[in-house]
Amino acid sequence: MKISVASDHAGFAAKTKIKKYLEDAGHTVADFGTYSEESCDYPDFAYLAATAVANGECDRGVVICGTGVGISIAANKVKGVRCALCTEETCAEFCRRHNDANVLAMGARIIPVEKMEKLIDIFLSTEFEGGRHERRVNKIKEIENK
Ligand code: RB5
Repeated sequence: MKISVASDHAGFAAKTKIKKYLEDAGHTVADFGTYSEESCDYPDFAYLAATAVANGECDRGVVICGTGVGISIAANKVKGVRCALCTEETCAEFCRRHNDANVLAMGARIIPVEKMEKLIDIFLSTEFEGGRHERRVNKIKEIENK
């Protein structure tokens, strides 16, 4: 898969490791920054990585800030993006099965990189179930168009 990644300064170290993890697993990574631990604003990078997913340039996205909260809120402002903030395996699985999430957000101050890797494995390998869940996702899309 082609995966967009982005972080702010708080997520930079984790993003660097996650980028290598994804590449080692055979994925192509598009890194939208930030590129250092210098203080920066997470919406700038969330927007870039989320837009790459929304416009089809990337298949999925992974975004990281301190808590994962800010960067997930920002990513979800991009039309077509369903960004799920996950801290454990069940949400990483069901955000795909039920919500067709296309961007995964995580907090570098909340979970270690090893946990992020597990959540990414689940997020990338789990399919959307469709059916009644598709009806609900379509209602999310209707809200986007209001
Ligand atoms: C940066 O200090 C921090 O606010 C940011 O990484 C994130 O946690 C915001 O939601």
